[in-house]
Amino acid sequence: MRQNIVAGNWKMNNTLDEGLKLTSEVVNMVQDELTNNNVQVILGCPFVHLTSVQKLTNGTKLALSAQNCHEEAKGAYTGEISATMLKSVPVQYVIIGHSERRQYFGESHDTLTKKTDTLLAHNLTPIFCCGESLDIREKGEHVAYVCNQLKDSLFHLSAEDFARLVIAYEPIWAIGTGVTASNEQAQEMHLAIRSFIADKYGKEVAEGTPILYGGSVKPDNAKALFACPDVDGGLVGGASLKSRDFVDIAKSF
Ligand code: G3P
Repeated sequence: MRQNIVAGNWKMNNTLDEGLKLTSEVVNMVQDELTNNNVQVILGCPFVHLTSVQKLTNGTKLALSAQNCHEEAKGAYTGEISATMLKSVPVQYVIIGHSERRQYFGESHDTLTKKTDTLLAHNLTPIFCCGESLDIREKGEHVAYVCNQLKDSLFHLSAEDFARLVIAYEPIWAIGTGVTASNEQAQEMHLAIRSFIADKYGKEVAEGTPILYGGSVKPDNAKALFACPDVDGGLVGGASLKSRDFVDIAKSF
């Protein structure tokens, strides 16, 4: 049975105190209210929060994620954070390939291949983001585009290593816009992604890979989205900044 996952992506938000307050609220709500043991709740924090948040999540049902890491193990990369450093916190997950990083920081398929390999080498779980822009969808090229993102960055992996990934499909036109993909649109893409994985790695790996949906997931749309057979949870931006909304989303399976 695939694991269900609800991961928050705080992006560039929260002072340290705000982050610790939010974390405490989420930890307490999850402990008191989340009865579904097949849901992994993850907090995706900025680097400055990780060591402090880890002290609050350690020993609870929650896991911790970074929002990026550098592809090299160490060296003269001023301002960057390595997988080795993240492992030492520890974090368990790392979001990579988010569309905002591809757009604003020019992350290439090759860079994401290296980041994936580095994270796997450190026994960290990549949450690999993919998704198309509105113009690509309007041209009907969204399935090919997203599948190519997976092929170009991930299909060098062995089946054993690919099975260690989490995939997050985030249509760019739904991120931060309040325009959520319809259930049909989400299911179409998740099924296409899962089928593409199956063609490469076989049915068992494809069926075992969690595929999250991201893009304006809210408490009022999460239940229907998560009911789609190939949607295994959400990667949540704005709504993860509000403890009540985020935990209500986690309770939506
Ligand atoms: O990584 C999740 C994020 O891109 C989705 O943002 O605010 O549309 O939930 P949001």
